[in-house]
Amino acid sequence: MALFPQQFIDEVRSAADIVTVISDYVSLRKAGAKFKGLCPFHGEKTPSFNVDRDRGFFHCFGCGVGGDVFKFIELQEKVGFTDAVRQLAQRFGIPVPELDASESGRETSAEREALLKMHELAAGYFREQLESPAGLRIREYLLGERGLTPETIATLGLGYAPQSRDTLRQRFLKQGFSPATAVKSGLISRRDDGSEVDRFRNRLMIPITRETGSIIAFGGRALEKDQQPKYLNSPETPIYSKSRTLYGLSHTKGHLRKADVAVIVEGYFDFAQVFQAGGVPVVATCGTALTATQAQLLRRFTSKTVLCYDPDTAGQGAAERSCELLVSEGFSVNVALLPGGQDPDSFVQTRGRDAYVAQLKQSKPYLEFLLDRAATGIDLGRDDARREFLSRMLGVAARIPDPAARDQFADRLAHKARVTEEVVRAEIRKAAAARKTELPAERARSLSAPLRDVERGLLWAIVHTPADAHAVLSALEPTDFEGLRSQDLLEKAASLLNLDAEELPAALMERLNDQEAQLLSRVASETAAPVPILTNCIEVLRSSRIERQLAAIQQEIDDDRLEHRPADLLNQLLRKKNDLRSQLEHTRRGPRDGYNR
Ligand code: UTP
Ligand code: MN
Repeated sequence: MALFPQQFIDEVRSAADIVTVISDYVSLRKAGAKFKGLCPFHGEKTPSFNVDRDRGFFHCFGCGVGGDVFKFIELQEKVGFTDAVRQLAQRFGIPVPELDASESGRETSAEREALLKMHELAAGYFREQLESPAGLRIREYLLGERGLTPETIATLGLGYAPQSRDTLRQRFLKQGFSPATAVKSGLISRRDDGSEVDRFRNRLMIPITRETGSIIAFGGRALEKDQQPKYLNSPETPIYSKSRTLYGLSHTKGHLRKADVAVIVEGYFDFAQVFQAGGVPVVATCGTALTATQAQLLRRFTSKTVLCYDPDTAGQGAAERSCELLVSEGFSVNVALLPGGQDPDSFVQTRGRDAYVAQLKQSKPYLEFLLDRAATGIDLGRDDARREFLSRMLGVAARIPDPAARDQFADRLAHKARVTEEVVRAEIRKAAAARKTELPAERARSLSAPLRDVERGLLWAIVHTPADAHAVLSALEPTDFEGLRSQDLLEKAASLLNLDAEELPAALMERLNDQEAQLLSRVASETAAPVPILTNCIEVLRSSRIERQLAAIQQEIDDDRLEHRPADLLNQLLRKKNDLRSQLEHTRRGPRDGYNR
């Protein structure tokens, strides 16, 4: 694998302030010398995710994940170390040195570049068409029936794809894009007979952007009554993945962060209308239930959501699924159900912005929404229906992490099902306990395995007082680490002693696997040195090693199968044993190499 020069990696590390980087994904609050937020790697409601700006480390006390700024990007973006370095370099304007990259790597980045250009070009073409006489009736439709202003149309970049066989394709070819790339963009379709035509014909075109504003796809709305489907969307392409995109985010992301809440709607026009009304931090999912990737994207801006979906069955089903997902990802979730069967688009158009905001303010916590939804259409007077309702809701209740919130839910559930609160609370506790034991035992054990004090002291020092750690590691021998939980980690550290002490933490971090990095950052996040006098580390580790060797020798001496061994072998063993004994005494008496703090 090609590697970047260390100097470049160090340059990126010092430019990429870890708080700035993580703030793109997690909303962090300052807590003393550290920053705190909700962990993006597991669902939680109270923040246990810590970022130490000065040391350049993050750590979650909830799930144990941790590491440096590169590790964060690796985990968050699901990329390798090299890509994490590259991304951060680009973000902080540091020129990336040529890597001996494979041809295919270079090809894909050139291809993505081309696809983005084609989308830019297509959007320009669609806008131009909307302005042309051919687009007149579409403009009238937007301004009239859909109630949009010329400003909103311009801001959202709406356009018109005319009823033409291959005008866009011809433009692409004229600009030098290959027919194959044109098809890859999803804007050109290849038919069964081999001919290639524009995918979007006679449709209102809605550009879909990344949060940065680059256009990566389109939604095309039908304009005739019999035109199917109602919305034709771009297919998945190398630059577009529907499940990781939130429509409108590039327009409202600043607002989401400032208001610390996201109102999630379903459709393009729901977004357009609410966005135009102003003052509501809104994004759209585009007709599907929210995915985990979308939730993670959202969390970079806020961890509070209000779902405002269509009141029809499909919309409410999507709301329910989105609720469960968001809650399991640690979001707080409210649900707003608009009266009169209206979607946000028609509600804002008919009742106005203020009435809509009032509806959002009356939104219910998701648990109440689920309760109401589960109870509708059920005759709770009937025993079997009530039992069925209860058991479904107990499943929901068991997933509520906060015991107080769980009891509160139990009481509401009891009220609805007309049983006593105690019965429900007991049932919920049982269900919650059952869930807890489902945790993979292996993982729980490795996370809680004891770490010796000396190890903790040494690991802590590697990060916080690397000069001390360097001196200690230099005084130890590889065999001193044997059998320790952090053996591999310490061996890696000891192999880096040719570096300056100050470089040790960063250089080590790069060489650790996930578990080792977690361990190191967990110890490093302790506020004070776990072992006050590091010299103890040398003494303790060295004497344990000598004790191990002594025990091994004693075993050899005692081994009766060696009854008939030559006398000088036994003498040799005894000499060794004495030698170790005196080493042990020496070690215990105190440091002999003059190393002192
Ligand atoms: P709706 O059917 O509720 O459409 O689908 P809408 O937003 O109310 O559309 P208008 O107001 O009639 O124009 C909601 C969303 O689901 C996606 C679109 O993103 C749409 O905005 N959808 C719907 C599709 O992708 N394809 C479809 O055929 C229908
Ligand atoms: Mn709708």
